[in-house]
Formats: sequence, structure tokens, C-alpha cells
Amino acid sequence: MEQESESDLEGYAQQALAALSSVRDEKALEAWYRKHLAPSGSMNAFRKRIGEQPVEQRKAFGARVNTAAGELKSQFDARKKLVAELELERQIESQSIDVTLPARALLLGGYHPVTQAIREVSQVFHEMGFLTFESPHAEYDEFNFELLNMPPEHPARDMQDTFYLSDRTVLRTHTSAGQVRAMRLYAPEPVRVILPGLCYRNENITPRSEIQFHQIEGLMVGETVRLSDLKGVLLRFARQMFGREQRIRLRGSYFPFTEPSVEVDIRCTLCGGKGCRVCKHTGWLELLGAGLVHPVVLRNGGYDPKGVRGIAFGMGIERMVLLLHGIDDIRHFFQNDLRFLRQFR
Ligand code: FA5
Repeated sequence: MEQESESDLEGYAQQALAALSSVRDEKALEAWYRKHLAPSGSMNAFRKRIGEQPVEQRKAFGARVNTAAGELKSQFDARKKLVAELELERQIESQSIDVTLPARALLLGGYHPVTQAIREVSQVFHEMGFLTFESPHAEYDEFNFELLNMPPEHPARDMQDTFYLSDRTVLRTHTSAGQVRAMRLYAPEPVRVILPGLCYRNENITPRSEIQFHQIEGLMVGETVRLSDLKGVLLRFARQMFGREQRIRLRGSYFPFTEPSVEVDIRCTLCGGKGCRVCKHTGWLELLGAGLVHPVVLRNGGYDPKGVRGIAFGMGIERMVLLLHGIDDIRHFFQNDLRFLRQFR
């Protein structure tokens, strides 16, 4: 600074700007800033000298210093932008892209085979006018058993080993637990619903049985409903799920909440009815339990059993998927093994 007198101000600024115009990288830019604009730089030295000027020149000199400082600062800002662009260009040029590298495969998710089946089955029933109705997994004993005509100590309770949450609450053992809830919502109007969801039973885990599994329940109540509706609805369902030529068979059975009760079988999907290992040489596979809703249950749901009838059916989804895909073990569904699950994408 020593050599720069006040008359050098404009000359100094010219030189500084000339130096700035050849700055092409961040390092040089920073050095230039330190030399000229930083608190210890030349511009500040000029500022300090304002007070040393004779009074009559002080104002004019101050104005010149400010003009020069303003010019330096605005040129510095513009240069800074340019340097950033130059740095980016250099960076891009220095990186090479290998366009021959194979792209990384996208990891696509998919629906679990049980979810897919629930959606397919639901679609078939939605097309027949059934609505989906949800009911709680943690359920009162009352809805799971009592209102379905299974009072305490009823022997049919033994068929469904139960997880009790308390004296009065259970993990629902079947989707039938939602039947009375649905009826109470709609009665005395007709009702046509399906109830899909998880059920829980305290059973031994085997290739055919799990302690949690999905069911889809169907319930239809109305003045004109009768057993032939059950056959029609289930035949249509069987044909849409298992093929246009499918046939169904109704066998007499027992459930406390239906009267009469039936088991519904379909023609064996593997041998077409000739008899094989899967159908134990009968030609038929068990698909679901069903029947006419018991008058006691209708009454519990808020209907007059003299005026209306109902049909109900309940199917196990995992066992149905086993049949559909020829899977040998129900435990695959809950093991989260991607080698198994990827086959259903
Ligand atoms: C019932 O649960 C009745 N609520 C079905 C019903 C509904 C009958 C409406 C009449 C009217 P069941 O206990 O048979 O019935 O079970 C129905 C289906 O659930 C079985 O056919 C089977 O596919 C499935 N299921 C039952 N227990 C298990 C289990 N432990 N693991 C896997 N699937 C099971």
C-alpha cells in the first residue's frame, strides 16, 4: 500500500480489475479477494486514508473510494458466478460416463399371493352385488360364538381352538363373527356382503393348518333368498376362479349357525375328476362350508325368520391358493421367503 497515494486510487482500481479478468478458478478468486476486498486488503487501506485528507478534499476522496470499492465488489460478484460455471464445466469434463454399463434392475414389489386371491375373489362377488364389510379381529365371544348359536359349553366350540384375550374377548376364529354385525347394520333391509380377513386358531401348525389364516365369508339375507341362490352364487364363483367347466357338489354337513349346512366341493383341479393323490382319488376337492342362515342367527341379527331367509358361506383363502397353484405347504405363506413370493408377481 505504501506506494499507492490517493491519486493512485483509479489506477489501482484499473489494475485490480484487469487482474480479476484473468481469474479462472476458485483459488485465484479467493487470493484476489484477500488482496483487494478483505478487511486487510487494499480497498480498506484507502478507506482508512479518508480521515487523513485535508478537510476540503475529504468528502470527494471518500466518494471516489466508495465508487471504486463498489465497482470492485460488483465485478468480483460477476466473476464469482463465472468461476462457478467454469468449475462445473471442468468437473463435468473430468468425469467420464461409461454408457455401456448395464442399467441396474428396478426392484419391483408385488402383492402377496393371498392378497391377490382375496382381491380376485372379492371382484367376483362384487360383480354379483356383494359389498365388502369389515369386522374386528379382536372380537367379543358373543359375536364369535353366542349369537351364532354356540352358547358357552356348546360342543361345536371345540372345533375351533380359540385364543382368548379375556373371559369375554377372543381373536376371531372365523369371519362368521362379522355376520351378526353386518345384519344389525342393515336389518330389516336385505343384505349382501362379503367379509374377508384374518382368523386365528390355537392349532398345531402343519402343512395344511396355520394358527392364522384368511377366510372370506359371504352373507345374503332377504325375502326371496333360498338355497338355490347359494348354489347359483357358488357355481358362478367356482367357474370364474377355477375355470368355465367347473362343477360343484354339495354334501350335507353341520355348523351350528346354518340349517341345513353343507360342504361345497369342486372338481379336482389337478386330475379334472379322474382321481389322483391330491383329491385322494375322489375326484373332488373341499372348497368351503355353507348353508341357510339358522333362524336363531337371523333373529339375533334383527330379522324376523318367518319373513326372510339367508345364505352364508365361508372359505379358507390359503387352502384355496394351495389348490389353485398346486402348493404343498401352507407354511410358505407366512415365511416371507422371496424365492417363494416372487413366483406370484
Ligand atoms: C368355518 O369357519 C365356518 N365359519 C364356515 C362357514 C361360514 C360355514 C358360513 C357355514 C356358513 P371351518 O372351521 O370349516 O368353517 O373353516 C372354514 C375354512 O377355513 C376351512 O375349509 C379351511 O379352508 C379354512 N381353515 C380352517 N382352519 C384353518 C387352519 N388352521 N389353517 C388354514 N385354513 C384353515
